[in-house]
Order: sequence, then structure tokens, then C-alpha cells
Amino acid sequence: MSAAIEKPLIENDPKARFRNAPRNLDFTIDQDWRRYTAAEHDRWDRLFRRSQAILRDRACDEFVAMIEKLKLSESGIPDMEQLSDRLAKLTGWRVVPVRELVPDDIFFDHLANRRFPAGAFIRSEAEMDYLQKPDVFHDIFGHVPLLANPVYADFMQAYGQGGNRALALGRLANLARLYWYTIEFGLIRTPAGLRIFGAGIMSSVGESVFALESNSPNRIGFNLERVMRTQYVIDDFQQTYFVIDSFETCCKRVIGILAGCMSG
Ligand SMILES: [Fe+2]
Repeated sequence: MSAAIEKPLIENDPKARFRNAPRNLDFTIDQDWRRYTAAEHDRWDRLFRRSQAILRDRACDEFVAMIEKLKLSESGIPDMEQLSDRLAKLTGWRVVPVRELVPDDIFFDHLANRRFPAGAFIRSEAEMDYLQKPDVFHDIFGHVPLLANPVYADFMQAYGQGGNRALALGRLANLARLYWYTIEFGLIRTPAGLRIFGAGIMSSVGESVFALESNSPNRIGFNLERVMRTQYVIDDFQQTYFVIDSFETCCKRVIGILAGCMSG
């Protein structure tokens, strides 16, 4: 997700390595993949194994299928260029490295052009269970598999196109809620039961269990108007999850609405 807020970097902060990386006008940087340490690759592997174990029978089939197809199960932090080459063959999307969160207009422009900005840094050991800002694990493990699904890929592009329009109209809050309750925290109904598709849940072991199995949260059928007026929390598990029936129907319907907003 995008944001313009920046926080001072502390020593040993894993983002520090990228702090002075030359930044292009679109906020992309060189991932400089060879400079990741063995400890950082090992951290990715542990995060990956832990998530895989929890997500078995919890993640939607579309997500699981693409983990293998994109070779995300290979050891170590992915090289975004190589990953992009595999992804581009499927849906034309690429993953581009950024230092951290990027401004909204830049973020929307990337999405509108089928580029997903991913944080290049990996979280510290102290942040294994809770992360304030999206790192390479959240952005790649959480978001990229579904970008290999053609319907979802079109939805993300339409979201980017609608984003710049919403920015101009001052309606960003509504669109942010759509992103939050689908792309980050969406659930999907399947014949086998509820499954996760939101990246924010996928990359959180605790919320993966909570979202599906706790009695506490509301799980409501997807309704765009209701999504747009439902506030969300950023520092705790969600109290409301929206459930879509299928990518095919939900994504296509929302794409149509976003296209209507853009022309109106
Ligand atoms: Fe995210």
C-alpha cells in the first residue's frame, strides 16, 4: 500500500541498506539482489515455511497454484527481475523494487501500468510476527501470486486506473477501503469453505488463523457500498472481513464500476 509518511531510520534497520539507493522518478530502485546476506535469505525461508504450514487449507486455490508456478518456493529472497520474467509471461505484470511505501499517485501509476512496487528490504528478526510497513515478504509472498491470475491481474490494473481518478476527485478514502477489504484482507467462499486471498492476512500467521477460525470478527458477503463506508484498523486484527463469491464475478463487477467512475 502507498503512503508518503517517512520515519527516521535507526541503526541496523534493514531498510538502511536501501536508504541511499539511487531512486528513479517513479521511485523504483535497483534491488541489488547480490547484497542480501545469508541471514536475510534465511529469514525469508523461515517466513515462507511458517506461512506455507499455516496456509495449507486456508489460502485459496488460485494463490496456492501460483506459488509453485512462480517458483516462490525456491530458497531465498526472490530476484525481482527473474520473478517478473516468469510473471510477465502469465499476465504481463512485473514486480519493481522500491525503498519503502511510495506516494499514492506513484503507486496508482505503477498499478495502472501492470507494475507492482515491492519493498526491497526484509523485516528484522524482531518483526517476524508484526510488521508496521510492508517488506519484501509481505509484498512478494502476499501480493504477487494472485497477480498471476488473469482476472485478478485485470482488477489490480483497474484499481490503479481508478486510483488516480479518485485522487483527483478527493475520494481516495473510499478506494482505500476497497483495497483494504479485498486486496489486503479479502476472504473468498469456496466449496471447501472460506479461504483467504488478501495479502495482509496471507503474510500474518496469527491473522490467517484468526480471520477464518475466530468467533470474534464479522464475516460479511462482499457489498461495495458497505465496504466503502466501513472503517478499518491498521494496528490490530480486523473486526470485519468481506467475503467474495468468486474472482470472476466480484473482480469483473468492480472493474466495471471503477471504469464507470473514471468516465463519470
Ligand atoms: Fe500489501
